[in-house]
Amino acid sequence: MKAVILISGNGSNLQSIIDSADRIDLQISCVISNNKNALGLKRAVSSKIQTFVIDPELFNSKKAFDRELISIINQNGAELIILAGYMRILTPLFVSHYFGKILNIHPSLLPKFPGLNTHQRAIDASEKVHGVSVHFVTKELDGGPLICQESVIIDNSDTEETLSMKVLKKEHIIYPKVIHWYTKKRLHLINDRTATLDGKII
Ligand code: GRF
Repeated sequence: MKAVILISGNGSNLQSIIDSADRIDLQISCVISNNKNALGLKRAVSSKIQTFVIDPELFNSKKAFDRELISIINQNGAELIILAGYMRILTPLFVSHYFGKILNIHPSLLPKFPGLNTHQRAIDASEKVHGVSVHFVTKELDGGPLICQESVIIDNSDTEETLSMKVLKKEHIIYPKVIHWYTKKRLHLINDRTATLDGKII
């Protein structure tokens, strides 16, 4: 299955998807970044994957930016859009255009800690358990139906950095696994609140 991957930064999830692509029946048609300095772009180039940078400063609205994004995605062909550390909020225009075809990975056990700085917020809230969620993207930020979660224990000695490393390790396993469910057509978004795996509501 052809997919486009959107990134903004380091791209360690992108790397784990590239490394698993053959095994999970995924063909990455291109990688798109809103940040020209994203290290993930270098990772894509090293794997001979075509890259595009869309500079937000060249667009006078979020809608105009997302129209350009849609145009590049459609030129390259994609049945699946994978958000892998993409730090821009997608417009309703984009989300409805690709309804049921966008996956995101978020570094918390949603619905806990949507948004940014999830690791520090989990530590500050004296959580004992933290983790990662993969979900379908809908108009609600970090609010689409959950598909899969993995948890990690927060130790007293954990800092934002050590916790983020623990969670990232889990991310690199869980995301390719869920993407494989999608490429095998086992996973479907039914509506803004419901997703199914093998025909059963998750
Ligand atoms: C990950 O923690 C991911 O869950 C979040 O942004 C981070 C991206 O990391 N959405 P990387 O760029 O994949 O290394």
